[in-house]
Amino acid sequence: MHIPDIIIAIDGYSSTGKSSFAKLIAKEFGFMYLDSGALYRGVTLYAIEHSMIGDDNVADEAALEQALPGIDLHFVQEDGECRTYMGDRCIEKVIRSLAVSRKVSPISALAPVREYVDRKLRELGSRKRVVIDGRDIGSTVFPDAELKIFMTADPEVRAMRRLKEMQAKGEDVKFEDVLENVRERDYIDSHRKVSPLTRAEDAIVLDNSRMTMDDQMEWIRRLVAEKFSNDLV
Ligand code: DC
Repeated sequence: MHIPDIIIAIDGYSSTGKSSFAKLIAKEFGFMYLDSGALYRGVTLYAIEHSMIGDDNVADEAALEQALPGIDLHFVQEDGECRTYMGDRCIEKVIRSLAVSRKVSPISALAPVREYVDRKLRELGSRKRVVIDGRDIGSTVFPDAELKIFMTADPEVRAMRRLKEMQAKGEDVKFEDVLENVRERDYIDSHRKVSPLTRAEDAIVLDNSRMTMDDQMEWIRRLVAEKFSNDLV
């Protein structure tokens, strides 16, 4: 299926499988995948490594704002996969650790951090044919995206998915802790002052609590075929 030059924005709660879904879409449609959460995680890693976050989870916003232009975060497409780099160091794995997950919400709530990430995404997305996942892509970063999807799933289902992912990477974590982290992030992400997690009015909701990835791919193929039937060759 030939897909027109569009931007696909995928927003939603954490651990709804946005990135796995976005990667598969990118592969099937020949689009570039942009992981906005990875940029927030990269900034958080930088803040942790430069001791910019206090024990109370409050970051030194002024110091971080000053450092932002020098944090060389970028994506490298390797073997069809998008990997996140800081300078020449691949940080794809470390940014998924619980240590980073625990600090990323307060860091991503800072206005200068959001401006930095938004600017990077808009630069990369200006060429179209991108699929981007995040929390505010359809509502704030690309309000004119041609296709907006908002993903949701039951918190327990999401915590179980996250637990399995972490265990597969050898992390020793308990279900209750992961569930608590999922709920905490839902709350912070939806209640922060700057760019809270919101469903754009024109976003299509996808609740995948009881869907497999194959079901989801079938769903998007049908959706794209219906929505862009006039543009499809
Ligand atoms: O999708 P993720 O779990 O990797 O995202 C990590 C954090 O970054 C998450 O707590 C919310 C934040 N985030 C955001 O605020 N806006 C985005 N567009 C993407 C992620």
